[in-house]
Amino acid sequence: MDPRLQIIDRRMAGVRRILAVTGGKGGIGKSSLAATAALWLARRGERVGLLDLDFCGPSTHVILGIRDARPVEDGGLVPAIAQGLRFMSIVHFIDDRPAPLRGQEISNALIELLAITRWGDLDWLVIDMPPGFSDPLLDAARLLGRAEYLVVTTPSVLTTETVRKALQLFRELRLPVLGVVENMHRGDEPPLAAQLAGFDVPLLGAIPFDDAYEAALGDVERLAHTTFMRAVGRIVDAITARRD
Ligand SMILES: Nc1ncnc2c1ncn2[C@@H]1O[C@H](COP(=O)(O)OP(=O)(O)O)[C@@H](O)[C@H]1O
Ligand SMILES: [Mg+2]
Repeated sequence: MDPRLQIIDRRMAGVRRILAVTGGKGGIGKSSLAATAALWLARRGERVGLLDLDFCGPSTHVILGIRDARPVEDGGLVPAIAQGLRFMSIVHFIDDRPAPLRGQEISNALIELLAITRWGDLDWLVIDMPPGFSDPLLDAARLLGRAEYLVVTTPSVLTTETVRKALQLFRELRLPVLGVVENMHRGDEPPLAAQLAGFDVPLLGAIPFDDAYEAALGDVERLAHTTFMRAVGRIVDAITARRD
């Protein structure tokens, strides 16, 4: 067995809960949800880490306006503190260029990143998971045994179809799903509950389409006042109230 796998468990020993944000399609708000959920929790006074595992397009650093927060080497890599949270991203290793990593290389990079990062004691580690439901996601899920999943969808039938497949997959793999979040909701649309019928998974809430969100990207003070982040905050509060 790869000795790094045991190290990962040890590295995560001080992390109370792992919140993994996932969803089938690109462009549905996974990174936005992960980044603002982490920011919300940090502003609530919790000890929070944010880990960006999107090998194709890491973007949580852009959302939170994190520029020079490189991890420091000290018996492993210690994440820098930025915007009140401990931040680690694959972007530190690929320097904003498209990642040339493929297949087994992604797997190795994932193991390496998880095995060297020293998170210390955290209430929450929020993870922007690899997009899609293929090998990188499955690898990450295997390595992060105790993660709890938030599945993002949008009102589009194109997204909800992949979410149904995802929920089936999560059930088969026995991965705990906290619930589904509907992003980019528009007021006149019917709720998604019917699409989730047959799955024992709650619809945790909806985030409205927010015209002001794009302009707030990179500026945490503006983000904190968006309808987007307030909706995320309500969902996060509901999750923590349920399980704390
Ligand atoms: N609720 C929303 N209202 C307005 N724009 C949104 C909303 N959610 C996401 N976006 C925009 O959609 C795009 C994709 O979001 P992102 O978080 O990068 O998705 P993903 O990580 O799933 O690819 C971004 O340009 C983001 O600004
Ligand atoms: Mg993303």
